[in-house]
Formats: sequence, structure tokens, C-alpha cells
Amino acid sequence: MQSSPSTSSSFAGRLALELLFERHSPWPLITPAPDDEELALVFRAALRAPDHGQLRPWRFVLIRDAARAALGEVFVQAARERDRGDDGERFRLKAMAAPLLIALCAHVESPHKVPESEQLLAVGAAAMNMLNALHLLGYGGFWATGVSSHDARVRAGLGLADDERLLGFLYVGTAKEQAAAPARPDAQDFVREWHG
Ligand SMILES: Cc1cc2nc3c(=O)[nH]c(=O)nc-3n(C[C@H](O)[C@H](O)[C@H](O)COP(=O)(O)O)c2cc1C
Repeated sequence: MQSSPSTSSSFAGRLALELLFERHSPWPLITPAPDDEELALVFRAALRAPDHGQLRPWRFVLIRDAARAALGEVFVQAARERDRGDDGERFRLKAMAAPLLIALCAHVESPHKVPESEQLLAVGAAAMNMLNALHLLGYGGFWATGVSSHDARVRAGLGLADDERLLGFLYVGTAKEQAAAPARPDAQDFVREWHG
């Protein structure tokens, strides 16, 4: 008799879900960061995100090693230009806060029948898959934006084209402390049924 594929897949699926339920955004993040083979898995997971119109809007920029200090300089210069009275130095450390930063970028086709918001959502979905993949590989990921992510000077510094948006940075590394996932609200509080 053929065994039911749904039995084994539902067992594996539930196990995967139990692991996902432990995902959180650890901070601070230290070395090691994922190696290139592990990063390839993370990006494969990213590209499993839904994508209306197959526009493939996701773009990722890796910033590691000495490039982090260079990004810190971009942050500082941008802060100084935003406010001439600000030395911007506090932004320098933000680029050093994890061994690897991944700039989350969206290439937006506009005008297009797929609205810009949907193209950005596809990149957001990819980012979530990346956070989950990092967690399953034993690493930590933290998505942060902040004023630097919204600054055109930082976009330019990273070499983004006019049709590319910067949706923040994934800070990636290993959690310094192995903390339990924080308590989450009851999902039912966010769900209602519509009866027509
Ligand atoms: C688009 C986006 C931008 C975020 N930007 C920041 C940020 O700049 N600073 C911050 O402390 N958290 C930011 N967060 C929240 C953290 O990534 C994280 O979700 C939050 O600390 C809750 O942790 P948890 O994922 O363990 O629930 C952002 C989240 C998203 C989705």
C-alpha cells in the first residue's frame, strides 16, 4: 500500500513551523555571518517570494568586511548634509553593527499595470523569506530602516539607479546571546471571519 504523502509532509511541515515560531530579531549580532554557500540558500529562499507579473523586483547589495566602514562614511556624510550642525558620527557605528549588511532594494517598473506597492511587497516578502532562512540556518537577521535608508544620498552612495528603492538593511550575523523568542500576541486577535 502506498503511504500517504500528506502524512510525512505534514509532519515535516509542522516541524518546520515549530522552528519558524521561534524566529525573532536578535540583537546584537556578532560573527560569524553565513558563508557564501549559506548565503546562496538565503537568496534562493528570497526568490521563492510571490511576484506579481514576474517582474523580479528584488535587488540585494552585500556589504561586508571593509565595505561596512565605507558605508558608515556614507551614512555620516549624508547626516552632515541633512543637518550642517550635526557631525553625524553616531551613524558610523550603525554600519558596523553586524558582520554583514544586506541592502534590500526594489527595482520598480513605473508606470506598470502592477502597482508600485505590489512590487515593493514582493521585495518585502523576499526579505521575510530571508529572515526565516537565516533563522533556520542558525543565524540572526534584523531588518532596520532609519533615516539613512530614506536618504537619497545613501541610495546614490550604494549605486542604486533612479528606478531602485532602498527598503532598509538586513543586519545579519550570529546572535550574541541565545535568548528565547519574545511572547507573541494571540493571532486570533487579528483575524475575523466575513460572512457576506
Ligand atoms: C520595514 C521594517 C523596518 C524596520 N526598521 C526598524 C528600525 O529602523 N529600527 C528598529 O529597531 N526596528 C525596526 N524594525 C523592526 C525590527 O526589524 C523587528 O521586527 C522588531 O525589533 C521586532 O522584533 P521581532 O522580529 O523579534 O518581533 C523594522 C521592521 C520592518 C518590517
